[in-house]
Amino acid sequence: MKITIIGTGYVGLVSGAVFADWGHEVMCLDIVDKKIEMIKKGVMPIYEEGLEELVDRVQKEGRFVATTDYKKAVEHGEIIFICVGTPSNESGAADLSYVFKASESIGKYLPENDYRVVVTKSTVPVNTNNSVKESVKKGAGSKKIDFDVVSNPEFLREGTSIYDANNTDRVVIGSSSEKALDKLEEIYKHLETEIVRTDLQSAELIKYAANAFLATKISFINEISQICERTGADVKAVARGMGLDKRIGPKFLNAGIGYGGSCFPKDVEALYRTSSQNFYDFRLLRGVMDANERQKIYFVEKIWNKYGENLSDKTFGVLGVAFKNDTDDVRKSVALEIVKILRGAGAHIKLYDPAAMKNAKKSLGNDYISYMDSSEAVFDEVDALVILTEWQEFASLDYADLTTRMNDKVVFDGRNLLEPEEMQKVGVEYYGIGRSKH
Ligand code: UGA
Repeated sequence: MKITIIGTGYVGLVSGAVFADWGHEVMCLDIVDKKIEMIKKGVMPIYEEGLEELVDRVQKEGRFVATTDYKKAVEHGEIIFICVGTPSNESGAADLSYVFKASESIGKYLPENDYRVVVTKSTVPVNTNNSVKESVKKGAGSKKIDFDVVSNPEFLREGTSIYDANNTDRVVIGSSSEKALDKLEEIYKHLETEIVRTDLQSAELIKYAANAFLATKISFINEISQICERTGADVKAVARGMGLDKRIGPKFLNAGIGYGGSCFPKDVEALYRTSSQNFYDFRLLRGVMDANERQKIYFVEKIWNKYGENLSDKTFGVLGVAFKNDTDDVRKSVALEIVKILRGAGAHIKLYDPAAMKNAKKSLGNDYISYMDSSEAVFDEVDALVILTEWQEFASLDYADLTTRMNDKVVFDGRNLLEPEEMQKVGVEYYGIGRSKH
């Protein structure tokens, strides 16, 4: 099938490459020349495990073309996916201007009397797709066009998105047109997974409901970690005991410094806003957001409780600045925010992240921050170690040896990567999140 992808961010680029891998003829469009030039040369504008190799292969095999030519791109696809960004605006609502711009441009270049399906993969609030339809018509002007709109939300996680695309738990497609849904099903039918066919609004809401539920799970276990700290229980043991109940499940029960990234914070806020706009106060979501904000502060308070709020005579080794492991992304990263808070309190920071150093530098600059070239290097002559991202390589360092390089053997572990007892054995003063010996 001929497929067009509008937008080469995480969702667009990964979906395009994976569709091409499944045998489709894919054309990916971006309005940013530099991005397309990079992709053509096989250099990815984002870090994603396995993406460079995959794009390189499908380009060489001739099934993946990157372009900035809107007309050519829209004419190419029987199915046209909108994969542009929907960042939060100042009020917390999703900024849909890129989605509508793309829709209008699609309308402008849609060939006359040739049936096409326009699919929204970008995360958009309920009922947006009705407006997408209107924008496409607006762009087409007086031209006679024949198209339907489908919502096909994406459930990819950064870092594992190629695996996720091939092993998704479900595919969700929503439209009022059976013809359009049949066409979409063609793309996914080889996957051994359930395809949920539904109306437009339900498909749109499924995405927000899923992300908000996962964020709720994280805030819930973070709140439980607070009770653990006050009662002597251990949050890892509690999460394990809860997660073995199949109705609960073990995933997304890792207590930490709070959820971040370009999806959860934005989507939880946008869903809360949708509910308010529909005259419903979604109190549970307010609690989820509050708990997330507090969790970060509780962690910083552990450091303040030890050293006071003026940290100008302290140097901290910091492991991790990405919003989670296996990505270079620092957007809405709680780790990055905490580094900023510590620096704001006067601390000097020795920082290392396996993938996000470039993005960290862009955001933090050089004041008070030394960028190190290995995990080991952050231990040298620091007053404490602060772990902020759940990279697995941080869990397997030789702490017995490395902590001897520190001024003081103090570790603040914001991701519970280490075991309090192991740390005590090697003489480390250890602070985790909701651990019985914190
Ligand atoms: C999330 C969803 O997991 C995807 O299904 C969805 O497609 C994507 O948003 C999206 O809407 O595009 P992602 O933002 O890549 O994916 O990252 P997650 O792995 O979900 O992690 C989000 C945040 O929660 C991270 O800051 C992570 O550190 C935190 N987290 C996750 C925890 O604090 N505890 C956990 O147990 C799990």
